[in-house]
Amino acid sequence: MISKIIATGSCVPDICLTNEALSQWMETSDEWIRSRTGIGARRLAAMPEPDANGCIRTHYGDSPLFTLAREAAKRALSMAEAQKGLAPEDVDLILVATSSHDELFPALACRLQEALGLSRAAGYDIVLACTGFLAALQMADAYIRAGVYRTVLVIGAEVLSRFVDWEDRDTAILFGDGAGAVVMSADPGHTEDGAGILGTVLHADGAGADALTGRAMYWNERMPAAIRMDGRAVFSFAVRRVPEVIRELLAGEGLRPDLYLLHQANYRIIETIAKKLQEPMEKFPHNLERFGNTSAASIPLLMDELNRSGSLKKGQLLCLAGFGAGLSYGAALLRW
Ligand code: UT7
Repeated sequence: MISKIIATGSCVPDICLTNEALSQWMETSDEWIRSRTGIGARRLAAMPEPDANGCIRTHYGDSPLFTLAREAAKRALSMAEAQKGLAPEDVDLILVATSSHDELFPALACRLQEALGLSRAAGYDIVLACTGFLAALQMADAYIRAGVYRTVLVIGAEVLSRFVDWEDRDTAILFGDGAGAVVMSADPGHTEDGAGILGTVLHADGAGADALTGRAMYWNERMPAAIRMDGRAVFSFAVRRVPEVIRELLAGEGLRPDLYLLHQANYRIIETIAKKLQEPMEKFPHNLERFGNTSAASIPLLMDELNRSGSLKKGQLLCLAGFGAGLSYGAALLRW
C-alpha cells in the first residue's frame, strides 16, 4: 500500500501588506527586506495600523484561522471530487498543522469536520510550527500505509500575524497568513504510474528551541505575547540541517529530484541550500516574495499554486523540506 496526493487547495487573505506600506510606520525599507529575505509583500487576515499614539492595532474577525483552513480544504476536496470522484464520506481523517489556533480547544480539525460535512472523519491538530505540514504528511502517509485510514485531508494553516510583535522589526517583516491543503489517498496497486509518497524523514533538535518561540498563548506579565527569534541562529540551523535531511532522505535511492518545494522562509536560505545540494535554482520554485513566511501553510500553498498552474508534471520527483521552531526539520520525497 502506498499513499498518494490526489488533490490540492489553498487560500490566502485578500489584505496585502507590501514592504513599502510597512515602511510607512516601521523603521525598515523595501530594499532591506528584499535583500535580506526575498519577501516583497505578505497577505494578512487583518491590517496592522498605528493608532493616534503610534501603537500598532489589528482587528481580526471571528476565527480567521478557521476561515482560511476551511477555504483551502474546500478547494482541495472539490478538486478530489472532480478528478477522482471523492465523496465527503470517503474522508477518514483530518490533520491540521497549525501553531496559531483561534482557540486552545476544540481542535480546529473537529470544527472543520462539521463545517465541511465530512461525516465519517476523525480529526486532530499538530503543533510543529513551520515543520508542521511535513509532520502531518508523514503521519497521514504512515496511517495509509498501515491500512488504518484510506483517505486523509492534510491542512497547513496559519494566522501567525496575530502573534507578531509589530515593534520587533526582526520578525514582523517575515510572516504572512494563509492555508494550504492536500487530499491523500491509498493506492493499493502502485503500478499504474508509480505516483505516491516514497519516503519521509522528521527530526527534532530541542537544544535549539529558544532560538524561535511563540509564547502568546501563555501570555502573562512576565512572558511577552509574541514571536521571538534569533534570526541568525535559525538561518544557520536551516542551511545546515535541511541539506542534511534531504541527503538522508535520498540516501540509497540514487534519485535526483526534479523539483524541491522548500519551506518559504527566506530566499537566501533557499539559495544556500540549493548551492549545498549542487542543484540549480530553477529546481526551487518559490512564492515567498508575494506571501512571506506562512509557516505550516507554505509548502502546501506553493504545491497548490504549482499544481493549478500545470507546473507539476506526472512522473516528476518532488522533494519537500521544511524547518522551524522546535527546532524541527524534515523532508519528504514523492513522485507526482
Ligand atoms: O520559519 C523559520 C523562520 N525564521 C527564519 O527564516 C529566520 C532566518 N533568519 C533570517 O531570515 C535573518 O536572520 C533575518 C532576515 C531575520 C535578519 O537578517 P540578518 O542579515 O541576519 O540581519 P541581522 O539580524 O544581523 O541585522 C542586521 C542589521 C542590524 O542592525 P545593526 O545592528 O547592524 O546596526 C538590525 O538591527 O539590520 C537591522 N535590522 C533591520 N533593518 C531594517 C533588523 N531588522 C531590520 C529591518 N529593517 N526589518
